Amino acid sequence: MQATGSNSNNMPPVSETLLIPLVARAKEMARNNPIISDKKSMEIISKIDTTGKVIDGGEISTHGILARTKIIDDEVKNILSKNPDTTIINLGAGLDTRICRVYNGILKWYDLDLPEVISIRRQFFTENERIRFISKSVLDAAWVNEINTSESSNIVIIAEGLLMYFTEENVAFVLDILSKHFAGAHMFFDVVHTFFINKKISSTFLWGIEQAKDIEKLNARVKLIRSWSTGDLLKERQPLFLRIFNILPSTRNRSQILHIEFARQDK
Ligand SMILES: C[S@@+](CC[C@H](N)C(=O)[O-])C[C@H]1O[C@@H](n2cnc3c(N)ncnc32)[C@H](O)[C@@H]1O
Repeated sequence: MQATGSNSNNMPPVSETLLIPLVARAKEMARNNPIISDKKSMEIISKIDTTGKVIDGGEISTHGILARTKIIDDEVKNILSKNPDTTIINLGAGLDTRICRVYNGILKWYDLDLPEVISIRRQFFTENERIRFISKSVLDAAWVNEINTSESSNIVIIAEGLLMYFTEENVAFVLDILSKHFAGAHMFFDVVHTFFINKKISSTFLWGIEQAKDIEKLNARVKLIRSWSTGDLLKERQPLFLRIFNILPSTRNRSQILHIEFARQDK
């Protein structure tokens, strides 16, 4: 990738992981039959200085990123087709470009990330009355005060490539905040299998689960609605060795996309 222009050097180390999904989406546009159309990622990566940064997580990571991008895009579009004024909260937004693919002029969208990252995001995206940025850690519960839910009863939370970098205690804390403040909300996020915890891959993951249903053990108000195993997705894009290894649950479930719902009433 060309290294010009904007400064990405002020990012905390965990935030540099945002370059990997950005590059995966941008590179997809060079393929004959791209799974997603994402000119914005191409534009951003051509202006960011990636010198010395890890920008490619490898074939398996790229496959997982594209699979989760496609699944969550489709789910969000489906929700917006039924409830166009949905409020969407994008946790650990990084330089995510989904807003460009789903914007309908009616939804309300919040992008939350650490202050250093939001200041980089501002170079490529603009706030308006429908799209807002929150410069806070998701572990600072005060961020919920910046969300205005009065305009819409339908709330969707997204956390892509985020929770695996937290300890289980921190993940439970995030779910606790969400369940208390956004009762009835739906959430989409990806989780890695426990097998990959503390292994140095492209990034070091701290939290994972074996079975999708295990997420309910972290919070009594969480209900699993659906899960997708990355090993079952975009099979034609997986190398043969991986399709064979998908027989193993830890390989098939190396990354799962979960759709959960927070209970409407306190239990
Ligand atoms: C792998 S990137 C994913 C970015 C984006 N969701 C995407 O898929 O393109 C992880 C993101 O989580 C953010 N992050 C890490 N810790 C965070 C925290 N405590 N609060 C908010 N964001 C955090 C990082 O700054 C980074 O932007």
